Amino acid sequence: MYQGNPDNLQALQGRRIAVGVCAGIASYKVCSVVSTLAQAGAEVTVAMTADAQRFVTPLVFQSLAGRPVLTSPWDSANPADPQHIRAAANLDLCLVAPCTMDMLARLATGRADCMVSLLVASIDRARTKVLLAPSMNETMWRQPSTQRNLATLRADGFVVLDPASGWQACRSIGPGRLPEPDQLVDALAEALREALREALREA
Ligand SMILES: Cc1cc2nc3c(=O)[nH]c(=O)nc-3n(C[C@H](O)[C@H](O)[C@H](O)COP(=O)(O)O)c2cc1C
Repeated sequence: MYQGNPDNLQALQGRRIAVGVCAGIASYKVCSVVSTLAQAGAEVTVAMTADAQRFVTPLVFQSLAGRPVLTSPWDSANPADPQHIRAAANLDLCLVAPCTMDMLARLATGRADCMVSLLVASIDRARTKVLLAPSMNETMWRQPSTQRNLATLRADGFVVLDPASGWQACRSIGPGRLPEPDQLVDALAEALREALREALREA
C-alpha cells in the first residue's frame, strides 16, 4: 500500500499512463506501482516485452490495471488503427520499469523491435514525458555502453531516474536497484507537475 504523499495520488487521478515492463528481476515491484496507479484512479496501460512475460505473467498486470495488457505488436485488431499508435496517443505519461540494459541500448539507438520499444517510439515526447527506471546488476550498470546509452537518452529528452544502491538479487551490493514502488509513483506525480509547469511557461 502506498505510504507517500496523498497529494501525489490525487495528481495521478484520471491520468492516462503507460507502463512498459522489461525482463528485469525487479519487475515484481512494478506490480505494486500499477496497483497504486489504478487505486489512484489512473487509466493504466501495461505493455510487456516477450522476455518480461517470463518473470511476471500479463494476467497479473491485467488484473491489477483492470485493462488488457499489450504483449505483442502483432495483436492489433484493426489494421487502420494499430494498437501501438492508439495506445501512444493522448497519454499523459509513460514509465518504463524495470528498464533493462538491453532496452536502454535499443531505445538509445531508436529501435522499435518489441512491444515496449515500439510503444515508446510512438510517443511524441514533446507532449508526453517518458520516464526510464533502469535496473540491473552493478557491473552491468557501470559498463561504458550503459553509461553512454544513458547520456544519449537524457540528451534525447527521456527522463532517466537514478537507480538505488544496495542489495541485488545476484547477491552483490551496489548501484542498479530499481527504486521502491512508492518512489516510482512519486516520480510519476512529479513528472506530471513538471509537465504542467512547462505548459504554463509556454502559454
Ligand atoms: C534471472 C535473470 C534476471 C535478469 N535480470 C536483469 C535485470 O535486472 N536487468 C537487466 O538489465 N537484465 C536482466 N536480465 C537480462 C535480461 O532479461 C535480458 O537481457 C533480456 O533479453 C532483456 O529483454 P527485454 O529488454 O526485451 O525485456 C536478467 C536475466 C535473467 C535470466
